Amino acid sequence: MAKLRVVYRCTECGATEPKWAGRCNACGAWNTLSEELDQPGGRSPAGFALAPATTPTRIGEVSTASAGPRPTGVGELDRVLGGGLVPGSVTLVGGEPGVGKSTLLLQVLSSWSGRALYVSAEESAQQVRMRADRLDAVRDDLWLLAEMSLSRIIAALDDLKPELLVVDSIQTIADPEVASAPGTVVQVRECAHRLVQEAKRRGVAVVLVGHVTKEGGLAGPRVLEHVVDTVLTFEGDRHHALRLLRAVKHRYGPTEELGLFEMRESGLAGVPDASRMFLADRHAGIAGSIVVPTMEGHRPVLVELQALVTGSNLPQPRRSAQGLDQGRLSMLLAVLEQRADVSLAKSDVFTSVVGGIRLNEPGADLAVCLAVASAFLNRPLPEGLVACGEIGLGGEVRQVGHTPRRLAEAARLGQTTVLCPPSAPNGVTGIAVRRVATLSEALAAAGLGPRR
Ligand code: TYD
Ligand code: MG
Repeated sequence: MAKLRVVYRCTECGATEPKWAGRCNACGAWNTLSEELDQPGGRSPAGFALAPATTPTRIGEVSTASAGPRPTGVGELDRVLGGGLVPGSVTLVGGEPGVGKSTLLLQVLSSWSGRALYVSAEESAQQVRMRADRLDAVRDDLWLLAEMSLSRIIAALDDLKPELLVVDSIQTIADPEVASAPGTVVQVRECAHRLVQEAKRRGVAVVLVGHVTKEGGLAGPRVLEHVVDTVLTFEGDRHHALRLLRAVKHRYGPTEELGLFEMRESGLAGVPDASRMFLADRHAGIAGSIVVPTMEGHRPVLVELQALVTGSNLPQPRRSAQGLDQGRLSMLLAVLEQRADVSLAKSDVFTSVVGGIRLNEPGADLAVCLAVASAFLNRPLPEGLVACGEIGLGGEVRQVGHTPRRLAEAARLGQTTVLCPPSAPNGVTGIAVRRVATLSEALAAAGLGPRR
C-alpha cells in the first residue's frame, strides 16, 4: 500500500507544498497553508473518473435544445440570473454570516414551482421550520433534510428526484470517503465537484451557499468558483436593511444586473423603485452633494454622490473613495487641478456613494468633479441638477451610453436640469439639457465658476 504523506495545501488557491511556509508560493497569500494527508494514486477528481466518454463533434451538430432558465419566482434574483435557474446548473451564493443567504434561499424554495429539497447542514430541521413559518414558506412539495453527509444528500436526491436542490452550506457538508474535516479545501472541492456532476447528470438546478472570509473572498479554495456555473454575491450592511445581489460569474448570461432587496420582518422584499429609495434621505442644499443617473445593468438608477474637502497638513493628503475607483478619483482630481484651476494639493478629499452602490463607470466622472468642486468651494449645487458625462484628460466632457434612459429616470424623480456633453442626444423630455464641452464650462454652468 502506498505510504501516506503529509502535504501543505493553500486554502486560497489549493496549491500544495511539500514543506510548510508562511506564504503560498503559488498565489502569494499569507498564512494559508494547512496540513493534510496526501493519498498518492488515490481518488482521481470525482468529475473526471465518472464522466461519460465523449467524442469530438462538429460544432454545428451540437444540440442547443437544452433547457433555458426557469424562473424562481423571486423577481430580483431572476433579474440577476437573466430569467432564472438553469436546470443542471450549479449556482454559488456567497455572503457574510447574517446577510440573509438562508432567508433568500428559503424564499426561493418556497416560490419555486416544483419539487425542491433544502439541505440544511447548519441549522436543525426545527429551526428551519420556524423560519419557514415566519416567511410563510411552508408548502407541500418543499422537502427538508438536516444533514452533513454528502452520501446521504445524494441518496436523498435518488429518493426524491427534486428539480431544485439547495445546500446550506458547502463548507459544512462532507464526503465521508475523504479524510478531511468539513470546510477544508479538499472537502469543499470534492463535495462541490460531486454536486456539479450530480446536477449535470440529473438536470437538477443546484444552489450552494458559501461563506465569505473577513477579506470578502469566498472561504476556501478559489477552485470552487471555477467548478460552478454561476457565482452570486449577496452583500449589505448589517445595520441597514438594504441587500445587494450581484453575479460575479455567470455562464448563462450577463453579469451586470443588480438585484435589490430590503430585509423586513417577513423576510426579503424586492425593491422595485431603487432610485426613490436611494434618494429618500437626501438633504437638499448641502455642498458636495449631487445626484448621478447611473446604469446598473439594464436599469437606470439615481444615486447620491457626496464629497467632503478639508484642509490637510499631511505630506500626502488623503483621498478616500467609497464606492468609487481610487485611481479614477486621483485622475479626476488631477484634471480638476490642471484644467479647471481647482487646486486640491493641500486638501484631504473624501468621496462616498450613498447606499452601498459602486459607481465604477466613467459616466459618473462629471458628477464626481462637480461634487468635489462644490465641497471645496463650500457652495451647494443648484437643486434639481444632475450630471452625466465622462471626463477626458484634456478636461473635455464625453458622452456615455444609455443617456436617454438615464435622463428619463432623472426626470421621473423630479430632477430639472442635466449637464451633458455636446453630443448628447436630442428629444429628451421632462428635463432641461444643458450642454457643456469642458469641465470649466460645467463648473460655470453649475454656479461653481470663478467669482467675479
Ligand atoms: P440569515 O438568512 O440567517 O443569514 P445567513 O444565512 O446569510 O447567515 O439571516 C439572518 C438575519 O436576517 C438575522 O439577523 C435576522 C434577519 N431576518 C430578518 O430580519 N427578517 C426575517 O424574516 C428573517 C428570516 C431574518
Ligand atoms: Mg444561513
